[in-house]
Amino acid sequence: MSEASRIYPVQDRIRSQSYLKSRADYQAMYQKSVSNPDEFWREQAMRISWFHPFDRVSDWDLAQASVRWFEGGKLNVSYNCIDRHLESRGDQTAIIFEADEPEHARHISYRELHAEVCRVANVLKSFGVKKGDRVCIYLPMIPELAYTMLACARIGAIHSIVFAGFSADAIRDRIIDSQASMVVTANEGLRGGKRIALKTVVDKAVDGLDVVKTVLVAKHTETEVNMVTGRDFDMAEEKARQRPTCPPEWMDAEDPLFILYTSGSTGKPKGLMHTTGGYLVYASLTHQYVFDVHPGDIYCCAADIGWVTGHTYIIYGPLTNGTTTIMFESVPTYPHAGRYWDMVQRHKVNIFYTAPTAIRAIAREGNQWVAPYDLSSLRILGTVGEPINPEAWEWYYQVVGKSQCTIVDTWWQTETGGILITPLPGVNDLKPGAATLPFFGVQPCVVDQDGQEITTTEAKGYLCMKAAWPGMARTVYGDHERFKQTYFSQYPGLYFTGDGCTRDRDGDYWITGRVDDVINVSGHRLGTAEIESSINAHEWIAESAVIGYPHEIKGTGILAFVILNADAGSPSDADVSNAVRGQVSSDIGKIARPDMVLVCPGLPKTRSGKIMRRILRKISIGAYDDLGNVTTLADPSVVDQIIQVHKNHK
Ligand code: WT7
Repeated sequence: MSEASRIYPVQDRIRSQSYLKSRADYQAMYQKSVSNPDEFWREQAMRISWFHPFDRVSDWDLAQASVRWFEGGKLNVSYNCIDRHLESRGDQTAIIFEADEPEHARHISYRELHAEVCRVANVLKSFGVKKGDRVCIYLPMIPELAYTMLACARIGAIHSIVFAGFSADAIRDRIIDSQASMVVTANEGLRGGKRIALKTVVDKAVDGLDVVKTVLVAKHTETEVNMVTGRDFDMAEEKARQRPTCPPEWMDAEDPLFILYTSGSTGKPKGLMHTTGGYLVYASLTHQYVFDVHPGDIYCCAADIGWVTGHTYIIYGPLTNGTTTIMFESVPTYPHAGRYWDMVQRHKVNIFYTAPTAIRAIAREGNQWVAPYDLSSLRILGTVGEPINPEAWEWYYQVVGKSQCTIVDTWWQTETGGILITPLPGVNDLKPGAATLPFFGVQPCVVDQDGQEITTTEAKGYLCMKAAWPGMARTVYGDHERFKQTYFSQYPGLYFTGDGCTRDRDGDYWITGRVDDVINVSGHRLGTAEIESSINAHEWIAESAVIGYPHEIKGTGILAFVILNADAGSPSDADVSNAVRGQVSSDIGKIARPDMVLVCPGLPKTRSGKIMRRILRKISIGAYDDLGNVTTLADPSVVDQIIQVHKNHK
């Protein structure tokens, strides 16, 4: 369990190429970044192109939720992502579009990207979109998505990307909140061979909304869709009318770049707003060092651009660095569970970044889906989004990486804009499940319940940040007070992450999960992630979700929802329960042993792979009719199945 079961030394193969060769290398650079941050970031800012230099590196006051970087500087994000590469690598592939059907993959060079982005920028302008206007983007993972976001950046419009799996109501709320005058969508999306009727959803979302003047529709499939005269326009026809050049707008370092909505523990989703200069410097620097990206590398982040991971590590970071980046339209199990590895082999991917949930999903299908492929191009494997359980980590390391690759377990948030705590290739010996060390300029601290910083090396508490970093969000769009309340009020002077963590005797950080998921059993604090990780270690178990429920004696009882591995055979419910309880007892202690174990066919997950524990908590108390909104689930039907299991158990 958490404190590393095993430590894997950095391989020579990794160190022979990595920018940093040792923990000492890291320490030296980190020390500089925190002892003289302005000097450090002034230097790092030179990695991007500025039209006009900045006057001041930083100016922040966390107590006031006031953060500004590189003030006075003028730049353009699309210029940095495209134009400045044209001379040196215009014909290099900027984006590999890995289409839903593998044989439809397509390469887009930096030169083509430039022409396409300029055309879209001119289309936006022709419909009156100006600097500062909001554009809502509801597109699947197709090149038009990259073109449109970069086109917004080119003319200074603020994009608000809504994941193309959200409902009409979710889009509508986001359009209203951001007052977007334009929506860019596609007739249909394709995922795992299925068609997704995006335009129909947009029609419903914008019905009667006066604020939306224009809907641009990219034609991704042959299907004809309803077009409202005077409102809806065909993207390809409009592009055909436009010139392939468009001068980039000079933006202020602190001008907004995008808004991205994310759910909190309370209230409606918040529109986190990111700005231009600091975000881009941070995206570029983290991308280069965390993934140890070198010229010529083929880099694949298999996330969706609808989430922050895709914003920063499919588009802005990689393109700023002149990397070849892959846009993956499909799902990890289409046409079969070997899809990722087939893709890695075909494109000779060097760096691969995905989420633990995806790793677990394909791991459970068996190693035979990995074995046939040549994965020798792989060097760096990344994971993000939730604590990775050691079993998934080991599988990734051994079965995918053949013990030849390094793993970076990157901790960050929509709010942070980029990776904050992570191993760096060449620096850390690997500890399965540890996010390890703060990135340059990042100053984490662990605070106790009273907000006191724990200064001993070994610590357990709430993860906060003591200093601003360039990539952090600047506000919640239209509601600065909420921004201040949510992140800067619990512990004045600190940014509160909402996560719990431990720091081990080496000073390495282990993220234990959202503190809202912490349960208190008989007065003992337990992380649900910690318990799940133990349960998942059992050979029968593919995945689990643990929640607290009211318990007469203990205050909180522990309920574990578990999914069995495909090859688990068919153990009885009692056998599974005993096995799970035994596993947890021996890993953590009897105190953490689940009181109830329910074997389920699936878990209620959002489309980004997060388990919606809120729903499980309701089910656990029998509030079957009070589950709230389940429309954001990847598969809402799983809820009824879990209810049935719970009912049968009683
Ligand atoms: C929350 C942020 C940032 C990209 C995707 C998620 C959890 C994220 C890790 C990790 C443990 C992680 C945290 C965080 N999280 N990465 N490597 N190890 N937990 O972005 O939706 O804003 O969620 O995801 O709990 O607070 P997000």
